[in-house]
Amino acid sequence: MSEQTQERAGILITDLKEIATMAGPPEGPLHGGALGDLEIVQDAAIAIGGGEILAVGPTQDLRERFRASTVVDATGMVATPGLVDPHTHMVYAGSREDEFEERVKGATYLQIASSGGGILSTVRETRKASMNRIVRQSLPRLQRALRHGTTTMEIKSGYGLDADSEEKMLAAIDYLRRLQPIDLVSTFMGAHWLPEEFTNNREGYIRDVIRKQIPRARSMAEFCDVFCEEGVFSPDETREILAAAKDSGMKLKIHADEFKDTGGAALAGSLKAASADHLGAIGPEGIKALRGKGTIAVLLPGTSFYIGLGRYAPARALIEAGVPVALGSDGNPGSCVTDSMQVILSLACLRLRMTPHEALASATRNAAWAIDRGKEAGILEEGRPADVVVWAAPSCKAIPHQFGTNLVHQVYKKGVLVHEEGA
Ligand code: NIG
Ligand code: FE
Repeated sequence: MSEQTQERAGILITDLKEIATMAGPPEGPLHGGALGDLEIVQDAAIAIGGGEILAVGPTQDLRERFRASTVVDATGMVATPGLVDPHTHMVYAGSREDEFEERVKGATYLQIASSGGGILSTVRETRKASMNRIVRQSLPRLQRALRHGTTTMEIKSGYGLDADSEEKMLAAIDYLRRLQPIDLVSTFMGAHWLPEEFTNNREGYIRDVIRKQIPRARSMAEFCDVFCEEGVFSPDETREILAAAKDSGMKLKIHADEFKDTGGAALAGSLKAASADHLGAIGPEGIKALRGKGTIAVLLPGTSFYIGLGRYAPARALIEAGVPVALGSDGNPGSCVTDSMQVILSLACLRLRMTPHEALASATRNAAWAIDRGKEAGILEEGRPADVVVWAAPSCKAIPHQFGTNLVHQVYKKGVLVHEEGA
């Protein structure tokens, strides 16, 4: 083809060994056998222009079709969509390494939490901090996540636990949108724990969440999440809070059946929540209740690993039941202190017994659906935003094969190179 008839591209990434596009009909999250049956283009290239994917296909074809301002030789590497982290608590003040040491010496996560540490210790730090200080402390976490391949991230409030402090957290999340390239999706989580001043007044706190916090949060948060767990919020309390959130226009999520099966997953299914998250203790009834409801099971193996309970969500049973599964980091100051979705991919394979391809699909296409970004993020195809990770790995399977090493070579967000290895 002569230069005149070639189409223009901004960037052409060539000679990739594989591209896992995550594309393929039908629209929606992948489930059952389709989760691991990925479209992999071999000896492939990606053309990017105007912030979007112009084409994905064999290098030879795209070289003939496009004249690009920048050609990136990615010989021997692979590409996937940017990783989508659908469950984090990345915005907070302070640090809990002292509790980490206590846990190493034998205290359990729940013992520490019920004696005023845990979530409440981060609440004390976050209430004291100005919004600017929360932003300053949180920005490096997001920058590290980006360097590990995350290009879209959900972040929850929930370390304020009063109307002003929850609003401050949501304002911090919003401000972080201007400081770094990861697309942020915000979730209000006033029902993350019972604050100290309401210790003897659960009902009063639920009224506070419904009457004071939700009306303030509704314009700042897209989702509302509740920690439905024995000793935290019951299924009835969760239902009441989520009903108010839904009336305010928020979409729903539940921290469900993490430690005990209290019926959280069943509630998520019956409310047609966007996601039911954790699910370490989900039983057969819960699995059944999630089938065909459009609710995504967001699995967080990093938390099971980090808390050390030795029990993991039954990923295989969920996949076999046809429930769409996603993976998230749960990155937070206590129960899973990480910014790396790559570690999560490895744990998903090693502990949830997901195949590498299943894990990758769960951390891209399906994770995007868990936060209602399925039409934009998580798939590499023409017309979508060009959120791309180029990996220094010989195959897509090799990404989770390596543990605790950053294999990211380049990250593109909306067609802009936002991170390069060694740069
Ligand atoms: O998802 N489960 C509840 N909330 C967080 C823990 C946050 C913390 O310990 O600060 C979680 O694991
Ligand atoms: Fe969480």
